[in-house]
Amino acid sequence: MRLRRCAVLLIEPRESIGFDLDSLLAGGDGLAAGHRLLALAPHLDREVELVAGDADVLAAVPVQRWTELTVLQAAHEPAVLARLLDCGLLLSDDHTGTHWRERDERLRATGWHPHAAVAQLFGRWSDVKSGEAAQQAGYATLNELLEKLGPPPPTVGERSTAAQRMALALPPPNAFDALLRRRVTCRNFDPAAYLDNELFCTMLHRVFGAQAMLDIMPGNSVMKRNSPSGGGLHPTEAYLLVQRVQGVAPGLYHYHPVAHALEPLASPASAELGDFALRCVAAQRYLADAPVLVMLVSRFARSFWKYRNHAKAHRVVVLDAGHLSQNLYLSATELGLGAFVTAAINETAIERAFGLDPLHEGVLAVCGFGMRGNTQRDDELDPLHTVWPREADHTE
Ligand SMILES: Cc1cc2nc3c(=O)[nH]c(=O)nc-3n(C[C@H](O)[C@H](O)[C@H](O)COP(=O)(O)O)c2cc1C
Repeated sequence: MRLRRCAVLLIEPRESIGFDLDSLLAGGDGLAAGHRLLALAPHLDREVELVAGDADVLAAVPVQRWTELTVLQAAHEPAVLARLLDCGLLLSDDHTGTHWRERDERLRATGWHPHAAVAQLFGRWSDVKSGEAAQQAGYATLNELLEKLGPPPPTVGERSTAAQRMALALPPPNAFDALLRRRVTCRNFDPAAYLDNELFCTMLHRVFGAQAMLDIMPGNSVMKRNSPSGGGLHPTEAYLLVQRVQGVAPGLYHYHPVAHALEPLASPASAELGDFALRCVAAQRYLADAPVLVMLVSRFARSFWKYRNHAKAHRVVVLDAGHLSQNLYLSATELGLGAFVTAAINETAIERAFGLDPLHEGVLAVCGFGMRGNTQRDDELDPLHTVWPREADHTE
């Protein structure tokens, strides 16, 4: 049997503070720091706690070439090798731990930059309820935040005094400015209304659809979209959870941007879609009400084909998703619809439902769009009152 180390591995010395009765009885503050060494390897689905000696072995075992076990056993404690093989940080070329070896090979083949792979894979949530951690820490409201943390850093990072500034002319407002001013994150969807089919198709075509295809050379077509994309690769696609759209059965779909068509996917039962929507957006009910949720799913391998093991590649993909979401907001606004984007999402639930392998295809954010309700139940940031009329406007 031959072994090699997994391709990507970061080791984090982590301190955690916990309650300690002995410290309290000895007149201390009742807190004790625990120190652990954690291995973060993105091909595994969990962090692995290391014990003394593990890190030295992991640093010594070659990553690119396979080494005979007997050779490694001559240099390292066999029990340590066995433990690291067991948890998937070391991989063997025989049937042992085949699953982890395959995951490692997929990671190698995708061209991930190691730091980005750790950030992307370990930043995923499984069953988080957004705001719950803040509530437990006593930071749930703005008042609590201000009380505990003091004021945030100032709104603007000023670099001069007011007198030193060069005032700029204000642009004469036009229709585009008016559209921009009406763009507000919607947290008040009508939970019952069905979205008109034509509006649904328009949204998908404008935001995710191919506006043109350019055959640059055999085997390489370039897709033109209404938003920019690093390398012109457009790795981010729309996976849909349709809840209420006229003429479209509730369920899960993939949007084909070139064919401008829906690809139906295996879906949970209709009655379960609402719960799944809520889980997608980490229990933010005011977002889950949207008739359409769009998972922004990036096909990393497409971007990393060009930007291989590149320190900027993941950033480029994330920025692409931001452009798509802004186009989604503006398109919705122009059509008289509400829209949102959130990164507070349970990625693993989404991956499971849509059949995505997170080493290849990752959910970066979830957007939604649809009709607003008539009343504002949840807060929106609309100081210009472009969406919600002022109190005085109501009474007029
Ligand atoms: C990356 C990103 C993540 C966001 N996540 C959430 C979220 O989890 N929940 C939410 O209600 N709004 C979310 N928002 C919306 C922001 O809260 C909102 O954009 C901000 O308060 C400014 O308001 P406006 O979009 O109405 O101008 C997010 C926005 C961005 C760009």
